[in-house]
Amino acid sequence: MSMTQDEMKQAVAKAAIGYIPEDTIVGVGTGSTANYFIDELAKIKNKIRGAVASSEASAKRLKGHGIEVLSLNDVIEIPVYVDGADEITKHMHMTKGGGGALTREKIVAAASKQFVCVCDQSKLVDVLGNFPLPIEVIPMARSYVARELVKLGGHPKLREGFTTDNGNIILDVYGMQIMNPVELESSLNQLTGVVTNGLFARRAADVLLLGTPEGVKTIKP
Ligand code: A5P
Repeated sequence: MSMTQDEMKQAVAKAAIGYIPEDTIVGVGTGSTANYFIDELAKIKNKIRGAVASSEASAKRLKGHGIEVLSLNDVIEIPVYVDGADEITKHMHMTKGGGGALTREKIVAAASKQFVCVCDQSKLVDVLGNFPLPIEVIPMARSYVARELVKLGGHPKLREGFTTDNGNIILDVYGMQIMNPVELESSLNQLTGVVTNGLFARRAADVLLLGTPEGVKTIKP
């Protein structure tokens, strides 16, 4: 019987537990794969000190399992951050933010020593850009940033009815063939009014646990 996408997500979530050292604080991502990881983390909750969450949704799920959620400002070291991605290349560059949590994800990832990305095989791509690139923007800068994104060759679309955990809006940028994710991540960060963009290339993943019908593959850059 072939594995469903959910079974592949569950398998990589389980495999990620092998990367968590005992008695440490765990960085926790957002999304359906991260949710499976949280459920796996609950099984070893007595062996960890607590978690730093990348969204209100993940914080709620962690607390629901009785896992202590700490503020990033109260934590000095996070050895491992575990999160999904919307797209990832074999160079470990990712597009994230499909769930709108990109800013907090990027912050927790930046503060973590190792980034373990957990995905089913549908997320592995040769070139980023098929999945629209999410950009978190300060609401008053929406039109200005959208015009600048058009100049860069993108087709931005406002994510209707959505507000981020930080009170901002998301522009999803369609039609980008991202050949140079490291440079594009930096230039998007330079647009005034942009809080964060969904390219995770400057701080790429360190390891990808990829769910396939044949089992979990471990991929490193
Ligand atoms: C959340 O903002 C995203 O960055 C997620 O990491 C990404 O959307 C992956 O989610 P799934 O595991 O649900 O595909």
